[in-house]
Amino acid sequence: MYRPYICPLCKSNLEYLNVNYFCHSCRSKFIIENGIPDFLTQIPMERENLILQSVRVIDKLAKIYETNFWYPIVYHVFGGIRIPRVKDTIKKLINMIEITKGIGIDIACGTGLYMRPLAEKIDQVYGIDISKGMLNKAKKIAHEQNIKNIELARAKVEKLPFPNKYFDAACCSGALHLFPDTLSALKEISRVLKEGAPFAVMTFIRRRFFKNKFVYKHLKEKHGATVFEITELKIWLEISGFEDFRPNIYGSMILFSVKKKK
Ligand SMILES: C[S@@+](CC[C@H](N)C(=O)[O-])C[C@H]1O[C@@H](n2cnc3c(N)ncnc32)[C@H](O)[C@@H]1O
Repeated sequence: MYRPYICPLCKSNLEYLNVNYFCHSCRSKFIIENGIPDFLTQIPMERENLILQSVRVIDKLAKIYETNFWYPIVYHVFGGIRIPRVKDTIKKLINMIEITKGIGIDIACGTGLYMRPLAEKIDQVYGIDISKGMLNKAKKIAHEQNIKNIELARAKVEKLPFPNKYFDAACCSGALHLFPDTLSALKEISRVLKEGAPFAVMTFIRRRFFKNKFVYKHLKEKHGATVFEITELKIWLEISGFEDFRPNIYGSMILFSVKKKK
């Protein structure tokens, strides 16, 4: 089956060779484990990326991630008690992607909580994440639910292994605030989207306890997480090639959609 992957390092086309992907230009090899290509094997883990440093913890978290012991608790602690229920938020985010066919990408897909409903709506979805644990769990759940139009790859948002203007839509839930350089992440997402393609996001902004500057400074300095100021987020989106910013705010959670500029 055709896979669109390109080398995340030099952006040349990859060849599928001896059950790995190989780049003839920069001679990088990307192994495939459990059917999931690993595009992080050749990329050093940056010391400044605190989230990448905790990837082993994230791997372990995959086991309980979708259970009542994790996702709904963390979601309401960060967002607020009165924000929509998880399943309503998922529905709202997927509804923001106003297409019914084509190929989508879930950026930092985790175990696939938002990716599976997106896959129900359009032809195919690629999910990328840095965590093998999350990806393996996403694969297992998709298999158990007989979902066949999901492809997974271990990759980081800053170096996506996909050609320019490949995707018809993108989503990113619960993760934009975790990327150490929001602007370069947004630019890379914009690069792989077709003109006019929707991008739907769930993240957090400086409201409720996130308004406290000690809280957001602590999150930035100790955990590398950004709690967004809505005006600054809007500017970064525009600089990255997005337009038509449509925010919906609930507690300290923001759900928004934008479109790749035409
Ligand atoms: C809170 S989880 C969200 C997972 C999923 N999107 C959801 O809403 O359930 C955050 C995910 O972001 C991933 N992640 C963090 N930094 C990343 C990066 N630079 N590139 C790709 N994935 C990243 C983590 O491995 C983790 O699975």
